[in-house]
Amino acid sequence: MEFRHLGRSGMLVSEISYGNWITHGSQVEEDAADACVRAALDSGITTFDTADVYAGTRAEAVLGRALKGERREGLEIFTKVFWPTGSGRNDRGLSRKHIMESINGSLSRLQTDYVDLYQAHRYDYATPLEETMVAFADIVHSGKAHYIGVSEWKASEIRAAHALATELKISLVSSQPQYSMLWRVIEAEVVPTCEELGLGQIVWSPMAQGVLSGKYLPGQPPPAGSRATDEKSGAGFIARWLDEDVLTRVQLLKPLAEQAGLTMAQLAIAWVLQNPNVSSAIVGATRPEQVYDNVKASGVKLDADLMKAIDEIVEPITERDPGKTVSPAERP
Ligand SMILES: NC(=O)c1ccc[n+]([C@@H]2O[C@H](COP(=O)([O-])OP(=O)(O)OC[C@H]3O[C@@H](n4cnc5c(N)ncnc54)[C@H](OP(=O)(O)O)[C@@H]3O)[C@@H](O)[C@H]2O)c1
Repeated sequence: MEFRHLGRSGMLVSEISYGNWITHGSQVEEDAADACVRAALDSGITTFDTADVYAGTRAEAVLGRALKGERREGLEIFTKVFWPTGSGRNDRGLSRKHIMESINGSLSRLQTDYVDLYQAHRYDYATPLEETMVAFADIVHSGKAHYIGVSEWKASEIRAAHALATELKISLVSSQPQYSMLWRVIEAEVVPTCEELGLGQIVWSPMAQGVLSGKYLPGQPPPAGSRATDEKSGAGFIARWLDEDVLTRVQLLKPLAEQAGLTMAQLAIAWVLQNPNVSSAIVGATRPEQVYDNVKASGVKLDADLMKAIDEIVEPITERDPGKTVSPAERP
């Protein structure tokens, strides 16, 4: 496993990290969740990403149990706040009240005194940015989080938050956007802004939720046990990628992966890691074999001809519009 700095910070993270959205506390049983965390640790992954909202707060608890007993200093644990964690009108958003309550819930479920990175899961247009950043600063100054990050914020929002973070003497070090061969909306604005300000990208769904592994074949039902068959939540989220044109084009990547001596999953993860502004690719898994497959993407260099050949295949199905980086106009 290779390691990169999280943005311009001094903290190193594994360039492939493990995330537990949809899986822990929902799609998979606890023994499978545990086996995946164990496989991640065995493979040199030290960075783990979760959120208060995942599986109605159960995902943090599953991860906390799976990591119990590990040397805390050897791990980088990331969580997030914004989406609803309860039915109350204040159980959501980025108000001081909810941030202060949510961090305490996260720390208790994760069984740790601090998280390494605390992230605003989306921008909250119902709270003044100053209120949010002062709350984050108090959390950092009280030792409950070391660094602050944002997720799916626009370049202008990141710039405004960075100015306040500098004033408040806290480190805003990362942006967590969706990024894959099929979803390149950060390249035009978010990445150049983050390069200038010293933030790194921790990218989500680098495999387009499993679609870029090539296992979903056009015209065929999804493989048993895959996210597309998870009626609890996964099927709804992956549906947008299960389009015949997308699946047909993805199959054209197979010979390119074979020529490079990679599985398609490895090709997809290595592709996002070619972007030097990416600090880590957060990969999900439902089985330990997937983790062992995926981690082999660390350190892989893709040459310019291969990158060009990939571009030519996926261009018609790739989204690049920077306007697609959005947070909900109203609090959920
Ligand atoms: N900030 C945000 O708003 C946000 C949003 C979404 C995700 N995230 C973060 O990003 C993480 C990763 O997202 P993701 O799970 O969508 O990422 P992904 O890596 O694109 O997809 C992971 C899924 O693909 C399948 N898979 C993984 N490895 C495979 C392999 N080698 N071969 C075949 N299939 C494989 C597994 O699902 P099946 O086995 O079920 O098919 C796995 O759960 C999340 O856990 C979360 O931490 C953040």
